[in-house]
Amino acid sequence: MKTKILSNEKIASGIYKLVYEWKGGIPSPGQFVMVDCKGKTFLKRPISVCSVDDKSMTIVYQVKGEGTKNLSEMKKGDTIEVTGPHGHGFELYEDKNVLIVGGGIGIPPLLYLAKKIKAKNLYIALGFKSEIFLVEEFKNLGEVIVTTEDGSFGKKGMVTQGIEDIIDKIDIIYGCGPKPMLKILQDISLKNNIPCQISVEERMACGIGACLVCACKVKKDGGFEYKRVCKDGPVFWAEEVEF
Ligand code: FES
Repeated sequence: MKTKILSNEKIASGIYKLVYEWKGGIPSPGQFVMVDCKGKTFLKRPISVCSVDDKSMTIVYQVKGEGTKNLSEMKKGDTIEVTGPHGHGFELYEDKNVLIVGGGIGIPPLLYLAKKIKAKNLYIALGFKSEIFLVEEFKNLGEVIVTTEDGSFGKKGMVTQGIEDIIDKIDIIYGCGPKPMLKILQDISLKNNIPCQISVEERMACGIGACLVCACKVKKDGGFEYKRVCKDGPVFWAEEVEF
């Protein structure tokens, strides 16, 4: 649908928060929208939903190429084309001790998850290279542990360090971030026998399951098969993903 931009602001180096009018379907946490970024690139970009209400939707994106650069230059009042919500989001369970783990641009969809999940206790581990973003929004929702690779904020190191200290309190883990981080979450989940859902990022073209550009290798009966990140994911159980 065509929709009007309400704001488009830079919140960290190369990271923008875009709010637009939204009268479409309400996504579940982990689902994404396809955004037409204009320019020579004709493909729409998949961007996860960061928050939504009955009038507007917010997405947070990183400028990575021509399309997202175009998007970053759009202003309040401009019109953009957004479709969705698409994909299979996180499965939510009530009254559990929940650990959410986010790395970099994988963090925004976890804000929507943290708002929606009805946890007994919510622990939120957020990892950044250097500059932080969205941390204040998470602080009202649970116990937040911030890590930066260069030590500029919070603890110095990787977001997955320190998880082992609280792991025996946790019933379920949710993660979104770079592949090496997701692989570590998979290892932690298997080692401690704690269910874990991860949101996998992959290049996309159609975004609706028709082109197979977004194939992701998953384990099946001692072998493997390919699933579509846009339709079967982007959220999978960590134990099924083949890294
Ligand atoms: Fe086309 Fe997933 S992007 S099948």
